[in-house]
Amino acid sequence: MSDLQTLPLFSDNWRPSMSVEEVAQCLNVSTASVHNWVKTGYLSKAEVNRITEESFLAFRDNIAGHEKLTKRANKSLADSHDHEALQATFIERLSTASSTEYEAIAIEYEAALSNSYKNKEGIYYTPNTIAGTFFEHITTEIENVKFCDPCCGSGNFLIAAISYGIRPENLYGYDVDPVAVEISRRRIFEKTGFLSDNIVCLNFLESAAKNEIPIGKIDVIFTNPPWGKKLSKTEKVFFSNTFKTGKSVDTCSLFFFAACAVVKKGGYVGLLMPESFFNVATHQHARKKALEYTLIALTDFGKPFPTLLTKAKAIIVKLAEPSNATSTVCKTLTTSHNRPQSSFQDNPRAILNFNCPPESADVIAHMMALPHDTLSGHARWGLGIVTGNNSKFIKHKISADHMPVYKGKDILKGYLKSPSNFIPNDISLYQQVPPLELFLAKEKLIYKFISSDLCFYYDKNQSFFINSANMMILNDTLPISSKLLCDLLNSKIMNWFFKNVFETHKILRSDLECLPIHTNFLKNCHAFNEENYLAYLGVIQDKNGTFRLKKQDM
Ligand SMILES: C[S@@+](CC[C@H](N)C(=O)[O-])C[C@H]1O[C@@H](n2cnc3c(N)ncnc32)[C@H](O)[C@@H]1O
Repeated sequence: MSDLQTLPLFSDNWRPSMSVEEVAQCLNVSTASVHNWVKTGYLSKAEVNRITEESFLAFRDNIAGHEKLTKRANKSLADSHDHEALQATFIERLSTASSTEYEAIAIEYEAALSNSYKNKEGIYYTPNTIAGTFFEHITTEIENVKFCDPCCGSGNFLIAAISYGIRPENLYGYDVDPVAVEISRRRIFEKTGFLSDNIVCLNFLESAAKNEIPIGKIDVIFTNPPWGKKLSKTEKVFFSNTFKTGKSVDTCSLFFFAACAVVKKGGYVGLLMPESFFNVATHQHARKKALEYTLIALTDFGKPFPTLLTKAKAIIVKLAEPSNATSTVCKTLTTSHNRPQSSFQDNPRAILNFNCPPESADVIAHMMALPHDTLSGHARWGLGIVTGNNSKFIKHKISADHMPVYKGKDILKGYLKSPSNFIPNDISLYQQVPPLELFLAKEKLIYKFISSDLCFYYDKNQSFFINSANMMILNDTLPISSKLLCDLLNSKIMNWFFKNVFETHKILRSDLECLPIHTNFLKNCHAFNEENYLAYLGVIQDKNGTFRLKKQDM
């Protein structure tokens, strides 16, 4: 008999099984989720890349049916629509509607799009009141201005342009959505009697990249571009190379670069952007590009889209070199002030922190100008344990096979609450565990991850924590101790600096790595003393908690 014939048909522990892909398909989730559920013990592995049918059935009937998973699986079905049918219906409606109905049809069309489609395509039409404010910044003769909204949606910027005196024959509007284009054309016709040939269905990014938009013809582009629209990797690489966008490849940044490429020298580009554009690392190339031009205005609009949590802010630049005297109008939700454009230039990552008033910006610029180090390259960083299922693993009583674990909320400035959460000692159970040597370091700093305050704890007890807290282990390449660094990061001045520069509720490593650490002064201190540090900086704290340069006192 050959070897093959001696083998049993099935091995002894053979059980009916399904491939990971099949399980993912049945549960309407990604294969990564299936792998996670294997790790967290919900599903059992059969052979390589296969799941036992028994565990799949038990999971589907007993767990997926009762936990959030079902919601997730069902969400993609409930939150969808037949787009072709919807477009056909609206094109038909438009062809028979009377001219007074166009704006109402635009609102209905946007409402008929499912949220998942709107998010995927970046479709949120700008309220008229917001679109109108952009035009207040144009100082050139308006009558001959050629205005373009390169992703015009239902035409709210085009209509605002008409209200500000721009002639309908000088309007250009593009969009990839034929219904949106038709609504815009008809609204312009309704308002002016002019049926424009310049409102057309095209992909602005592609056309601008291929020089198909007549460069130098357009004076002004104001728009709300699609935010976070999905693009393929090839598209991202192509647009990034063409427009020289560096790492800023989100569609909102790509539209900014493309708009700057097609607008005349001396013209205006103004975009309504997600809040992240103004401070997050991936958009820094776009911010640096903006600072090469004259930064006219930055405006905070809060949360103008009822179904979106993301905040929106506008940036308006004039395509001309800034001068030393360039002053930027900064409108927050409650105040308005002017900031010298140069005050944004030296911010870490060219962050446009325009909520920060000019006196505070002076302190920030001063702290950045004094010789300093940063944590970049001087520390090792780690996240907390990701258990994969906190409610399954976390117990609130200690036992022999469990160990204490801290959450972000257990960390206070310089203190750790008594442990109230315990997880099994067997770390192989968890979805993600950072290298143990980080947890076991002789000294480390643990900090809260979701917080508007810097909350650091100096840990000498090799404590473990889960993913609402992170850790940092200082190398000996910075001439200060971990304890002193901890007290510095918890100090009032550092917290004030962090809030005023980064304007965020997440304590990110990339932000911490930008903080100025004034080692020239700190290396001579045995312990951190805030009063002495402020004296070194030449900064004083006002009664209202804000800081200002001492020399302003004299
Ligand atoms: C956030 S909406 C804003 C619409 C309009 N600018 C406004 O402010 O009301 C973005 C629009 O961009 C369009 N769009 C997405 N990708 C596009 C592209 N590559 N070229 C042109 N338009 C695009 C979408 O169809 C959508 O109408």
